[in-house]
Amino acid sequence: MYICLEGIDGSGKSTQIELLMNWLNECGHEILRVFEPTDSQAGRLIRKMLQNPNATNENFQKTLALLFAADRIILMEKIQEAEDEGKIVLSDRCFYSSIVYQNGAEWIKEINKFAKKPDIVLLMDIEPETAISRCEGKDRFEDVYFLKKIRNRYLELADKEDFMVVNANNGLNKVHDDIKRVIAHKLGMCI
Ligand SMILES: Nc1ncnc2c1ncn2[C@@H]1O[C@H](COP(=O)(O)OP(=O)(O)OP(=O)(O)O)[C@@H](O)[C@H]1O
Ligand SMILES: [Mg+2]
Repeated sequence: MYICLEGIDGSGKSTQIELLMNWLNECGHEILRVFEPTDSQAGRLIRKMLQNPNATNENFQKTLALLFAADRIILMEKIQEAEDEGKIVLSDRCFYSSIVYQNGAEWIKEINKFAKKPDIVLLMDIEPETAISRCEGKDRFEDVYFLKKIRNRYLELADKEDFMVVNANNGLNKVHDDIKRVIAHKLGMCI
């Protein structure tokens, strides 16, 4: 079982993955927690590049997209191994981030064809203003206008690809309960 949390920066992905992992552990499931970019060489290069505040030019973005796809190929092996061992994989982002951030370009889909589709995608849907206010004090380069565009693309994709849309504007515990309900339903568990 491969579960992915998607959403803009500050939507609460890391927070909710932590809570979800603890809950699933308590229920007796073994978990592999992964995130993109990973800690592979490609992943580390991506992180370094993402720190560049002038990273908006087109060739820079294309290079990043290629690196993300490469980083993902390595990650897919780990995910497959964990699934074969019966673990639940919880992933902070997946190839859908590339699709959304690169606006659905065909070549992006092509270079990501080796990426497995998650069994469940939870879209952490949040007002960009709220996400930004939660990230105050951290280095952020994305403005409200950009985040609104990304949020809308996520919502369009959610429709096409059957994501579970979570209202991430709510308080931490409410969001966690909503996520638990979705996952319990999908896994046939009681809560
Ligand atoms: N439901 C919530 N209500 C209020 N604050 C929250 C909520 N969820 C998370 N936060 C806080 O908002 C901030 C951003 O959350 P988090 O780091 O989980 O987001 P993220 O989606 O992982 O962001 P990034 O993509 O930048 O890693 C954190 O300081 C976190 O404690
Ligand atoms: Mg995070």
